Amino acid sequence: MSQQSTDPDVASFFSAWEIYRAVIDSDAMEHQEVFAKVHRILEERTEPFTLLDLGCGDAAGIGPALVGTQIATYVGVDCAAPALEFAEATLSGTVAEFDLRLGDLMDTIEDPSELFDVVLVSFALHHFSDDDKKRFLTAARARLRPGGELILIDVVRQPGESRDEYLARYSSYVRSWPLDTDTVERIIAHVDGFDYPADVSAEPQWAAERGFRVEEFYRGGNETQCAWRLTAIDN
Ligand SMILES: C[S@@+](CC[C@H](N)C(=O)[O-])C[C@H]1O[C@@H](n2cnc3c(N)ncnc32)[C@H](O)[C@@H]1O
Repeated sequence: MSQQSTDPDVASFFSAWEIYRAVIDSDAMEHQEVFAKVHRILEERTEPFTLLDLGCGDAAGIGPALVGTQIATYVGVDCAAPALEFAEATLSGTVAEFDLRLGDLMDTIEDPSELFDVVLVSFALHHFSDDDKKRFLTAARARLRPGGELILIDVVRQPGESRDEYLARYSSYVRSWPLDTDTVERIIAHVDGFDYPADVSAEPQWAAERGFRVEEFYRGGNETQCAWRLTAIDN
């Protein structure tokens, strides 16, 4: 799968936002744990910083994680308009300055007109092919200010696991989530159609090859999820 711009079927799934909202509300994808760790990373910044959140959804994880940090400006980009309406509600009163944009995350990261201190991509990069994930990492490195970092959170395959093996394992995991049967089946159909997680051992290697220092800060979800802090090595 090669994706130059937003897949309309992906946008359509996330436009029915109540499905993903049920996932977040039940904490099935461990947003609480992951974003508590993201908060601790962002807390280390002692100067005001800008953050670009690609595939921001409703910002339910990152919104609370920004409280008490030196966030100056938050920019969220998503291809699903309804998600951005929820994001506006999440961020109002939390972040003084925010800008929500309807758009494609690859187009955004490849637009060289703005630089950021932090780029976040959370549970969104797996919709892209491995070649496009590498393309994304190259572009993200170029969008960071000196001292900048990319926080990458995503679903992953185990080393050597095929996509079909992953899909079988992930489906049975989703069936253990505390959600109604219809919601579970819609999630599984979406994952089967559109998810292309990277091999967990390959993604940090691609980042290292593109000028990032790599620190894994979370692994969970029955070994289906991983998160890395990718710090730009200044030239
Ligand atoms: C699984 S949700 C993750 C939302 C949020 N980042 C989180 O961690 O909960 C994936 C989000 O990425 C968005 N998305 C998927 N492909 C995209 C693309 N090519 N450009 C922009 N947004 C995209 C979807 O609309 C959805 O809101």
